[in-house]
Amino acid sequence: MPFFLTPWQAPPLRPELSDQTLHIWRFPLNCTESLENLLDEQELQRAGRLRVPGKARAFIVARARLRQILGFYLGLAPEALRFDYGLYGKPALAGLPDEAPSFNLSHSGNWGLCVVSKGCAVGVDIEALGRSLDYAKLAAGFFSKSEQHWLQAGSERERRRRFFLIWTRKEAWLKGKGGGFSDSVQDLDRAHLQGCCTHAGGWWIRSFPVTRDYLAALAVTRDFPLLQRWNGWPLSN
Ligand SMILES: CC(C)(COP(=O)(O)OP(=O)(O)OC[C@H]1O[C@@H](n2cnc3c(N)ncnc32)[C@H](O)[C@@H]1OP(=O)(O)O)[C@@H](O)C(=O)NCCC(=O)NCCS
Repeated sequence: MPFFLTPWQAPPLRPELSDQTLHIWRFPLNCTESLENLLDEQELQRAGRLRVPGKARAFIVARARLRQILGFYLGLAPEALRFDYGLYGKPALAGLPDEAPSFNLSHSGNWGLCVVSKGCAVGVDIEALGRSLDYAKLAAGFFSKSEQHWLQAGSERERRRRFFLIWTRKEAWLKGKGGGFSDSVQDLDRAHLQGCCTHAGGWWIRSFPVTRDYLAALAVTRDFPLLQRWNGWPLSN
């Protein structure tokens, strides 16, 4: 089904989810604001265990923004929210009625993304296109033969773009399902061949740019004709 992706814009005073809209929020991770006070004890302990430089700060900012975004919908203070975790670590809102929004979070480099929807499962993945990794090796491990073949075409830049296009879609799909990372990611074979969106095994998967240097994909269990993109905290364009 065709869908409309809005430009990134300032969010309304109180964002509302309808059956027709899914919300995508982006926020920079390189802010200097003190945000630890929004996190709970468990999150602070997790941040304390992250030893890679920058990882702890990225985790704190992303969790704080996630709390601010969800609190915005619910009319609750960010620090009042509680999370439950699925078998493989997928967070969900705890202690709220079933109609509370579903969401998923992803961060890479300088950017975080949060997708919020109503009445369906959702997964999201963002990747920095300039990230240094051995993508041929990763493709050999996770991509099907036809995907690996498709990847080999074009310039180095195009091959990198194609790698992240497939990777983000598979990751979003895996994250939407909330785990089962032993599931065959080859189930999504050839997903990349169908333009910017595809439908596979009960999931709608859509790619979209975040900035010129970042690519993302989301996966949802039902179709949305309107994907609204909001600039998150600080709330501005
Ligand atoms: C655990 C996993 C979610 C990590 O993903 P990642 O790309 O490193 O990180 P992202 O930034 O996209 O997502 C992390 C966020 O997703 C959420 N998350 C954690 N576990 C999750 C799960 N099982 N399902 C969905 N979301 C999850 C959390 O909010 C987490 O952020 P936080 O810990 O800061 O709160 C998962 O993608 C993974 O391990 N994948 C294995 C790799 C793989 O097999 N890839 C195949 C692709 S072809």
